[in-house]
Amino acid sequence: MKVGFYGHVRQYHNVKKDIDANIQKVLESGEYVTGPMLKQFEKELADFHGTKFAIGLANGTDAIWLALMALGVGPGDEVITHPNTFFATVEAIWIAGATAVMVDCDQKTRCIDPARIEAAITPKTKAIIPVHLYGQCADMRAIRKIADKHKLFVIEDNAQAIDAAGADFRIGELSDAATTSFIIQKNLGTNGDAGAVVTNNPEVDRKIRKLRNHGSDKRSCHSYGFNSRLDDLHAGILSVKLKHIHEWNDLRRKLAVRYTAGLKGAANFTLPYETPGHRHVFHLYVVETKKAAQRDDLLKFLSDNGVDAKSHYPIAIHKQEGYPWGKQARIVGSVANAEQNAACCVSLPMFPELTNEEVDYVIAKVLEWDKKTK
Ligand SMILES: Cc1ncc(COP(=O)(O)O)c(C=O)c1O
Repeated sequence: MKVGFYGHVRQYHNVKKDIDANIQKVLESGEYVTGPMLKQFEKELADFHGTKFAIGLANGTDAIWLALMALGVGPGDEVITHPNTFFATVEAIWIAGATAVMVDCDQKTRCIDPARIEAAITPKTKAIIPVHLYGQCADMRAIRKIADKHKLFVIEDNAQAIDAAGADFRIGELSDAATTSFIIQKNLGTNGDAGAVVTNNPEVDRKIRKLRNHGSDKRSCHSYGFNSRLDDLHAGILSVKLKHIHEWNDLRRKLAVRYTAGLKGAANFTLPYETPGHRHVFHLYVVETKKAAQRDDLLKFLSDNGVDAKSHYPIAIHKQEGYPWGKQARIVGSVANAEQNAACCVSLPMFPELTNEEVDYVIAKVLEWDKKTK
């Protein structure tokens, strides 16, 4: 059997009629950029999050730095995040012109460890960017408390966790803005690049709307800005998929339960941790080998047996060659948890269209590897 890592085409086939209809609708409308389909999707996205505003953007990286810029964070300022995230989190801080300050992640969730944040705060600190890594919310209550105490902004990097929730908070509720990516491999993904910001702050909404459109909110009147608009064809695809995201995430959660039941008791790796009460939406199902030296062996064994497993993210940002590329960056304290996460992580196939038979095959192969590994 072969088990792929993504199910993009299966997903398209399941909602083809509605996607094709929306694409046709946009094509026939004659309006493709900031047209009616984008407006409709932005309203649907804001309603989905329970926020006042949603702004469609070209990608999830722009969403982060445009949110920083709209909040007035830039050169001379420091922004705190963690180094075991996708590169774009830190890249966006640099694009905004700020200094990236990285602290360790939590030993279990692999999201930022709130207990490490205060030691990294200086008079230059302006914002914290928690990443809802792998589909699970960071500890937003603790992060908000620190942000309030030190008067800092919070931007949630929610590229991986749309429709996740904390035990007693929603995404977008405890921050100044939450950003997301709609690249195809995300839980809510389009067939190309796209992203968004959701916020309850009317000034953030107004500024990002202008910044994404060459600094213009009125024809022929401009200030400094960029081109970072989500186009209407992608908005049409996303509008269809947004209606299914909760049910698709429920399927991911069920598959995660199946993986966990099948894999528990294995000796050579740990299983993903779900914080009690949180809704983890399993963007990725990540196991970690107990020894770093075993990781590539597991990946190779799975690949040799037809299972496409990957690693998110195998090299922590501060360990990438050439770091920090002339940009401003600081590591505060030990980042041993983040480094262990990078060295040991293996993402097993996880997408809502995966069948039970495929999951059972992956489980069987992982257990086979576990048995033969010392
Ligand atoms: C945590 C995180 N932040 C930011 C991004 C950037 O999004 P994009 O690729 O749409 O720019 C991604 C994904 O690609 C991500 O996983």
